[in-house]
Amino acid sequence: MLNYSPDIYKLEILTIGWKVEKLENRIETKIEGAMEKSKVLVVGGSGYIGRRLVKASLAEGHETYVLQRTEIGLDIDKLQMLLSFKKQGAHLVEASFSDHRSLVDAVKLADVVICAMSGVHFRSHNLLLQLKLVDAIKDAGNVK
Ligand SMILES: NC(=O)c1ccc[n+]([C@@H]2O[C@H](COP(=O)([O-])OP(=O)(O)OC[C@H]3O[C@@H](n4cnc5c(N)ncnc54)[C@H](OP(=O)(O)O)[C@@H]3O)[C@@H](O)[C@H]2O)c1
Repeated sequence: MLNYSPDIYKLEILTIGWKVEKLENRIETKIEGAMEKSKVLVVGGSGYIGRRLVKASLAEGHETYVLQRTEIGLDIDKLQMLLSFKKQGAHLVEASFSDHRSLVDAVKLADVVICAMSGVHFRSHNLLLQLKLVDAIKDAGNVK
């Protein structure tokens, strides 16, 4: 049997301690990163999925923006829902898919954009509308 000096064991313990400390620091950094808050823009926020995304984003404490399409006009149900989002702390951003500049300005407020528009699963023109959002995201250049 080999006889090591006690100093070797002390060194080994020190090394293990240092490794554990490093691991703890890495875990802490990861947790802090995961808890980082974002600025979230929800498009299609008054829809079935969209309204849940808005609520979830607010509940997670993210700065939440909801696109208020000019086209909704006086749709009372949508307006009431948007106002309820505002009361819960969301910011309403007026924009239109027919106005590229307004979409770019809306996107510039956020670093995460979530689109919950309907009609993407079949060949509807909403799919093409979403490409306008993609163009706005590219032009805004700030989305993560
Ligand atoms: N519902 C489900 O159970 C389910 C399940 C799986 C996947 N999905 C997918 O999730 C997405 C959203 O579904 P949903 O059920 O939430 O849809 P939805 O309630 O019918 O509508 C979502 C939103 O789409 C926007 N929209 C509709 N027509 C538009 C137009 N012409 N121009 C611009 N925006 C328009 C509206 O946003 P505004 O708020 O701006 O008016 C509307 O609130 C769809 O792609 C769907 O396929 C849904």
